[in-house]
Amino acid sequence: MFTHDWRPSSWRGRTALQMPSYPDSHALQEVEQRLSGLPSLIFPGEISQLRERLAAVSRGEAFLLQGGDCAESFDEFGQEPVESTFRVILQMAVVLTYAAACPVVKVGRIAGQFAKPRSSELETQEGATLPSYRGDIINSSAFTAQARQPDPFRLLTAYSHSATTLNLLRALAQGGFADLHEVHRWTADFVRSSPQGARFEELADRITESLAFMEACGFDASRAPQLHAVEFYTSHEALHLQYEEALTRSNERTGSWYGGSAHLLWLGERTRQIDGAHVEYLRGVDNAIGVKLGPSASPDDVLRLIDVLDPDQEPGRLVLIARMGSDKVQAQLPPLLRAVRRAGRTPVWCCDPMHGNTVTSSNGYKTRDFERILQELLGYFAAHSQEGTYPGGLHFEMTGQDVTECRGGAQELTDEGLSERYRSACDPRLNGSQSLELAFLIADVLKAARR
Ligand code: TRP
Ligand code: MN
Repeated sequence: MFTHDWRPSSWRGRTALQMPSYPDSHALQEVEQRLSGLPSLIFPGEISQLRERLAAVSRGEAFLLQGGDCAESFDEFGQEPVESTFRVILQMAVVLTYAAACPVVKVGRIAGQFAKPRSSELETQEGATLPSYRGDIINSSAFTAQARQPDPFRLLTAYSHSATTLNLLRALAQGGFADLHEVHRWTADFVRSSPQGARFEELADRITESLAFMEACGFDASRAPQLHAVEFYTSHEALHLQYEEALTRSNERTGSWYGGSAHLLWLGERTRQIDGAHVEYLRGVDNAIGVKLGPSASPDDVLRLIDVLDPDQEPGRLVLIARMGSDKVQAQLPPLLRAVRRAGRTPVWCCDPMHGNTVTSSNGYKTRDFERILQELLGYFAAHSQEGTYPGGLHFEMTGQDVTECRGGAQELTDEGLSERYRSACDPRLNGSQSLELAFLIADVLKAARR
């Protein structure tokens, strides 16, 4: 990779937007030192493997599913939230694998998704003004001066939460939980009685029957490890550059550098300035790199980002994640697809139908409408079919839990319903039932495209 003049710290010579300012810089340095002595959370061979999988997506031979919380939290930490989100990702993956008859690459926004860019430095509540909440890796969401003060020791907590979460995910992915023979067990109780729960049970029956049939024919499932486990990769926004730098490691085998905090790191819509610090950091690491693109991204912006982040045109390096909004996707996306195709580039294209569709409910909740999320997805598929490009993946803010944060869906969640179990400290997530419902709707689109 072309990393002329790049070092893990070379971003420090550039403008870094959205970074906290710590009152005690010595404490920050101490923490950075400690982090740089800790083990990488991932192995570089896993990055190569993910990039091979993404290369298959870019060739149209696989599909990418990325999802998880808007922001993970230190408080809602435990087995249940991780396990339930993992379970719903498995369910969605099964639905899509079956419909598209192609492999699904599973990537969580998890085990490190702790830093949030904010539109405003300050937040005012009932006449009092304090620094905004920036994610648990930086400060706490409680509205007190003390809680909102950036605390560098949170970086160590984020690291240890990420390590614990990743350990659980590896156990779930490899230890039998994700075995296709267990497909009936992945449905949460609150989803089981719903229409999409019933539809999933039907699909699970068909899979179980197919496995039994193959085994009756003499196929020995115990010799097919791919039935018993999944590859599961982690990702988060590479926003907190001191944290990312401190976890950057050199790959002894190749002599190149990789970010040790997750398999895929993405560049946020608010920090993708071509000469900015975040682009500078990401261009030098081997990880798969996501780039969020909002409606203001011009074809030129995108081509320049591609040149800087993937100068050698490496397969599986870039995932361009469009987050246009349901009303803008049809106008804004096709020119980008066209420009990238004409430049001879084949990044993975991914749709984030969440971030362009955030609204405030009549009773003051940040929410999203299921219908608009679906509309953006349909617009995304239509744009690709119009431009002859491959709609390679989907990116969701979702949880397996029974939260009430997004409106609509078969549950017909309304403004009044939002207050019941609104738990997100940041953006509204699809709950387990809405996520599964969306997977079935997309499966229908993929099935139709296959015909
Ligand atoms: N390993 C295969 C895959 O990941 C098949 C598989 C096993 C699977 N368990 C799964 C697929 C759970 C989806 C969900 O595709
Ligand atoms: Mn978000």
